[in-house]
Amino acid sequence: STASTAEKYRPALHFSAQNTWINDPNGLVYHDGVYHLYFQNNPHGNVWGNMSWGHATSEDLLAWTHHPVAIACDENEDIFSGSIVFDRDNNSGLGTAGTAPLVAIYTSAYKPGHARHGIQAQSIAYSLDGGYTWMKHGGNPVIDRGSPEFRDPKVFRYSSAGASYWVMVAVEAQDHQVLLYKSENLLDWEFLSTFGPANATGGVWECPDLFELPVDDDPTRTKWVLIVNLNPGGPNKGSAGQYFVGHFDGTTFASESTVSEVRGGGPLSEYQWLDWGRDYYAAVSFADVPDGRRLMISWMNNWEYANQIPTFPWRSPMSLAREVSLRTVHGRPRLVQAPAFDPGQELESTDRFTQETLQVHDAALRLDQAEGAVQRIELSIDPGTAAEVGLVVRGGENQGTRIGINIAQSRLFVDRRNSGESGFHEAFASLDTAPLRPANGRYELTIFVDHCSVEVFAQGGLVTMTELIFPSPLSTGLSVYASGGSASFHDLSVVRFD
Ligand code: FRU
Repeated sequence: STASTAEKYRPALHFSAQNTWINDPNGLVYHDGVYHLYFQNNPHGNVWGNMSWGHATSEDLLAWTHHPVAIACDENEDIFSGSIVFDRDNNSGLGTAGTAPLVAIYTSAYKPGHARHGIQAQSIAYSLDGGYTWMKHGGNPVIDRGSPEFRDPKVFRYSSAGASYWVMVAVEAQDHQVLLYKSENLLDWEFLSTFGPANATGGVWECPDLFELPVDDDPTRTKWVLIVNLNPGGPNKGSAGQYFVGHFDGTTFASESTVSEVRGGGPLSEYQWLDWGRDYYAAVSFADVPDGRRLMISWMNNWEYANQIPTFPWRSPMSLAREVSLRTVHGRPRLVQAPAFDPGQELESTDRFTQETLQVHDAALRLDQAEGAVQRIELSIDPGTAAEVGLVVRGGENQGTRIGINIAQSRLFVDRRNSGESGFHEAFASLDTAPLRPANGRYELTIFVDHCSVEVFAQGGLVTMTELIFPSPLSTGLSVYASGGSASFHDLSVVRFD
């Protein structure tokens, strides 16, 4: 292959930085038939710095077009994370007679030399050409608390029987608090309430999101989901995202998923994580997706080692776009996640391997016809008498990423200790786990494998694990295995994209 070493990890199914550094997704919005992905970007380097909003668009969430930097840092401020709304009625007055503006709400992180140096405040920019060029609002910042840790505004339109206005959630990061504000015009903001500290507080709270979803697809029964990203303090160390389910009355968010809370089934013993893997951070949702679908994207990296991952000169991919919904599981509303598209349909698949049943007794079975570097693997596992069952993906000479289930411990795990390059940071080689219970005696898995990642959706997306890996391009082996007994693997389907 002519691919340079620099490009060998570039993902096929995921958005990745072109040739610079990126972190959080920002300003996710569906507008005029196009998904806009803005992101924290260093336009001048491949480590964090010079924070600006980069920009890409897609019609299918799979193929992305890169655009010039949308909102650039200058001598006064870095442009930290935030969101975009379509101000369709021109409440802000930033539009013109014929054109309603897109309005970006971002964090101004003031630089040395500026009167507000060290302060983080919320500012506005607007676009009159559908999101391609942006002007800063003259009256910035629009909210300034004099705080050094006030950031990541996510704005949405709140409408109930009696009222309709804009709501912002942002964080006081060190205080583990989400702050809520309201506005009629996106420029003047009134403080509403705070939420937190609650549940996971092992790191700063960042990049919040708040949205309403039907429960079990019943539009007459809705609940609100509050997303709070956390760094460090994730379930397997470093960066991760937690969520709360509850009620928002237009002023206050009340959680029903704080661990201290006691209800019918007794106290919750566990925090609810958006993803249990090491590389799913700063997840936020798109505004204005048709049919009320709630789609999210995360940065696929972890602040523990983010600046060191070996993907020179570009650094960081994004996760797949995921659709989230609420499903009642053991009496409680839980978030379930599914890829937001079917790449089996959208992409030309060069190979498809299916197998109805495979019986494996205390062995690993290599599936030579199902090899590939970029794959979607679906299967259902009956653990039978085995103590551990699973797969090895991106297998090669002395390497492979093990995705398995420890039956006695009821844990799903991703073991990337032997997955490929890992010496770039001492925290990278890891064995990471998540709680996982069988349904009707079986474990259902959907796994996306790419040039530098695995994303596991277990039990219909109730538990997900997202992890970076850096295997040799030659490591394309796929095996299933059972240890300590016999297991059967059902309805195996492997679609290959490379
Ligand atoms: C999260 C974060 C945000 C901040 C941005 C700066 O990864 O720390 O809180 O706005 O990155 O790049």
